[in-house]
Amino acid sequence: MVPMCGIVGYVGSGPASGRPLEVVVEGLRRLEYRGYDSAGVAVVTPDGLQMAKKAGKLVNLATQLGTHPLAPGTAAIGHTRWATHGGPTDDNAHPHVSGDLAVIHNGIVENFATLKAELVADGDGFASETDTEVVAHLLDRAYQATGDLTAAMREVVVRLDGTFTLLAVHAAQPRTVVGARHDSPLVVGLGDGENFLGSDVVAFIAHTNQAMELGQDEIVTITPTTVEVTDFAGRPAHARQYTVDWDAKAAEKGGFRSFMDKEIADEPQAVADTLLSRTDVSGALVLDEIRISESVLRAVNKIVVVACGTAAYAGHVAKYAIEHWCRIPVEVELAHEFRYRDPVVDERTLVVAISQSGETMDTLMAVRYAREQGSATLSIVNTHGSTIPRESDAVLYTHAGPEIAVASTKAFLAQITAAYLLGLYLAQLRGTLFPDEVVAKLAELRAMPDKVQTVLDRCDLVQEIARWMADTPTVLFLGRHVGYPVAMEGALKLKELAYIHAEGFAAGELKHGPIALIEPGQPVFVIVPSPRGRHSLHSKVVSNIQEIRARGARTLVIAEDDDEAVVPFADVVFRVPQCPTLLAPLLAVVPLQIFACELAHAKGLDVDQPRNLAKSVTVE
Ligand code: F6R
Repeated sequence: MVPMCGIVGYVGSGPASGRPLEVVVEGLRRLEYRGYDSAGVAVVTPDGLQMAKKAGKLVNLATQLGTHPLAPGTAAIGHTRWATHGGPTDDNAHPHVSGDLAVIHNGIVENFATLKAELVADGDGFASETDTEVVAHLLDRAYQATGDLTAAMREVVVRLDGTFTLLAVHAAQPRTVVGARHDSPLVVGLGDGENFLGSDVVAFIAHTNQAMELGQDEIVTITPTTVEVTDFAGRPAHARQYTVDWDAKAAEKGGFRSFMDKEIADEPQAVADTLLSRTDVSGALVLDEIRISESVLRAVNKIVVVACGTAAYAGHVAKYAIEHWCRIPVEVELAHEFRYRDPVVDERTLVVAISQSGETMDTLMAVRYAREQGSATLSIVNTHGSTIPRESDAVLYTHAGPEIAVASTKAFLAQITAAYLLGLYLAQLRGTLFPDEVVAKLAELRAMPDKVQTVLDRCDLVQEIARWMADTPTVLFLGRHVGYPVAMEGALKLKELAYIHAEGFAAGELKHGPIALIEPGQPVFVIVPSPRGRHSLHSKVVSNIQEIRARGARTLVIAEDDDEAVVPFADVVFRVPQCPTLLAPLLAVVPLQIFACELAHAKGLDVDQPRNLAKSVTVE
């Protein structure tokens, strides 16, 4: 989930003022979820470049700017860092400067050591350990040769291996910001007499909802009134303009104590919005976005889901439903494992990439690999204008709204919902479900937002237990069938938010090893399937609870409202409304998210920005 660094750029038409700095710092505040090892800004003022940068969270930079204000300017760039090359120090913070030029960077320049050696041999000295400073030197040299920042950028980008979004300003071009992207995100915000650049639209959504998508390997030059996009060779490129369909309020905490609390509260809406407008008058599913021909989809003989982290667990859940409804084998693979193991995929394979950010590098690379093998690729993505949908044959958007907290919550529910829509669509197309069965399952899905709300309304008990358990060193999670990926997701949430050792197991695996971990007092969450579902599943999990209870485990059980069979063996029961087995993950995961979030709050941790993490992992 690392977006690895947030970047923002601004240029305005008025006289030099405080606005460029204000816009950029505000953008950084919204982008801080992408990295928080350091933050920095550079402003182009009538007296040349001014810069401030500080290790640590944005608040450190803000404090410095309070005591040492920068002069009014006409353009500015800002960066919030997730450290790759060089530790999180003031010196390594971006921007990096060479002469009258400043640059910020998201990504990794893989050949920086070679380039740096050349520059050092030619007499250049360096102030940081970063790969980015090398780019600053190269750009400065190219600027001196060409006298134009866009031309300089064009010369430099072709020398860089790796991934990058770069933004640069030069004191001699006070109303210009130049950006470039290669395998790393960058979007343009279109204002009135001012323009913006950002890692994502959140950077400028407070000022405009008009955005422009850039393609791969493109350079963009913004002035207050123009936006010019070219490819790396300087040929004009077409950039699609679009309107962002949510506003700045959606990217605010809205009175909640953290973004995560707000995003968990948004979950019913995220599911409802993802289901919206996807049927015709007869109730049949119409997924207009799926631009893969029906004949290709009918011929598909295998689906491979590629994703990372929470998104991969959403894929695991979807596997159960898609196989059941469509009778197509589904493999779920971590994207970073997929492309390095020579996977067997071909033109009859449908590769489904799931990603909240649409920028996860490993997932993007898996999509590219799949396309090279001739497979059709479909992405399930939350962020419009991002790279993965651009590079997929088709996209099914989740409509969860912006997810700012680094750890994913509402996107997980929206991803499961979208993947289920895909499963039902394929079942409809291939005739493995009757039309009335599809309609009935859609109705069941539409009932889910209210049920999720019911779980949220009952969050007091789980919060209370979480606060009691703030000192717990380890927690285990057990589930079967669709409850198994939910158990893994519950464990992931607890690790990343509360820094507590946690493991999720398939309950059936218990006797094959993990039961040795059970000792008196060991807390174990157990996700119990519906007693009205496949009966053997329910009774097997109830037996698992008895087995661990007999060995002293403290059992925290998630079970349906009418499930009395669990009561004798549960220390605590968290109740969820009745629902069909395959839809239960949308409910069962919610108490686990709330548990991890509350426990992290109780430990005084920053739930929105857990240590070492960032929101979209745009480097491998
Ligand atoms: C965990 C989490 C991550 C992401 C993963 C993929 O809470 O957020 O595991 O799910 O990094 O990110 P996306 O979905 O943006 O591809």
